[in-house]
Amino acid sequence: MNNNFPKDFIWGTSTAAYQIEGAVNEDGRSKSVWDVFCEQDGNIIDGSSGIVACDHYHRVDEDVALLKNAGIKNYRFSISWPRILPNGIGKVNPKGIKFYSNLVDKLLENNITPWITLYHWDLPQCLQQKGGWCNREILDWFSEYAHVVTDALGYRVNNWIILNEPSVVSFLGHGLGFHAPGLKGEDNYLASVHHQNLVIGRMYRELKAKNANWNIGSSYTLLDNPADASCKDNRASAYMDCFWNRNFFDPLMKGEYPSIMQDAFKPWVQDGDMELIKTDLDFVGVQHYNSIYAKDDFEKGLFGTFFGEKPKDIPTTDIGWGIMPQDFYHCLSDFNQRYGDKIPLVITENGCAYYDKPDDNGKVDDARRISFLESYISAVSDAINDGVNIKGYFVWSFMDNFEWSEGYAPRFGLVYVDYDNDCKRTPKSSYYWYRDFIKV
Ligand code: FCB
Repeated sequence: MNNNFPKDFIWGTSTAAYQIEGAVNEDGRSKSVWDVFCEQDGNIIDGSSGIVACDHYHRVDEDVALLKNAGIKNYRFSISWPRILPNGIGKVNPKGIKFYSNLVDKLLENNITPWITLYHWDLPQCLQQKGGWCNREILDWFSEYAHVVTDALGYRVNNWIILNEPSVVSFLGHGLGFHAPGLKGEDNYLASVHHQNLVIGRMYRELKAKNANWNIGSSYTLLDNPADASCKDNRASAYMDCFWNRNFFDPLMKGEYPSIMQDAFKPWVQDGDMELIKTDLDFVGVQHYNSIYAKDDFEKGLFGTFFGEKPKDIPTTDIGWGIMPQDFYHCLSDFNQRYGDKIPLVITENGCAYYDKPDDNGKVDDARRISFLESYISAVSDAINDGVNIKGYFVWSFMDNFEWSEGYAPRFGLVYVDYDNDCKRTPKSSYYWYRDFIKV
């Protein structure tokens, strides 16, 4: 496959703190909602947690060398809030700052541009005890945290992602209880959506006022949500579309919630909120893996809507997620039609999970990942050719890691991590493929 992308196209890879760092009890870090969620029986398929993860906390040099050797010029990672502010707010933990400061230095020394996600789901548990995302005070907590991080790193870091996938935090974490903090119900769902939307609007303004040159965005899921075969109409599909896409993009781009959700959000919306949420971010991060099928279910679902069955004939990865690059193309062009092309998009995550393992020679030949990436990157190229304003693409993930409630079996990495053998790293075939593909 030839790389016909513009010369200044941004190629990178992504990770997140809780999924790779480990060292959860070291150097003054306090517990996050994910530590606590993992401790509760039945929440994680294989009973695992991020206690060790990829042990990245102790292997920064090795991991930066792996990035460099793949010619990766942009690396997206997240900061663990409970490492920086173990009490959520207040006293700063210098050892937490030091860890990220060293990581940033190492990246820059190797000509790798850092892209920092301020929040990739690991809220300090002490703030969860005060209501977490359901408490509007989180606007102030988040602001304090974001200023501590940007004060410490901002003179070396230019690219900021405020939140990662608020849809997942709200739907899986606060509506259905499948992710931390394990809350359920429509009220928790609605409060967490609105407060995350407010945080994005407020933090964009505050950080931009701090440094107008910073490139500041936030990352969102962007997914197709067809109705499954059991549905008589598209009611469930319209709600799924709100849960994954429109409850975030409509307020951000148009300053309003989708009409079918407006009454539900009313109790949480105060004067001036929608004006604050409507924001011209510098870029919108979009992340795509799969299409989510919807069905009516008034018992298990939220607003009568739950996951449906995908058609049997769709090819899937090892964890059952559809391989449908045409749906990715459709999401991108649909986004353009709904919201226009004024704000550039950066694909801040895309990738696939297989149960990769080394062969007898120790080689991890993940040909299926290479073909997945080729087809999805082609979809990005088609979308650009058809007028969608896309500036970059980041593979999820740089290395295999802790895949939240799915544990360690799904392997998303370009680099294989041998969890039974001291987290030994082995670059997979896709690592070399990506290196050659992005070479300028
Ligand atoms: C996304 C998450 C990321 C990773 C991928 C597979 O929803 O942002 O942390 O788990 O899915």
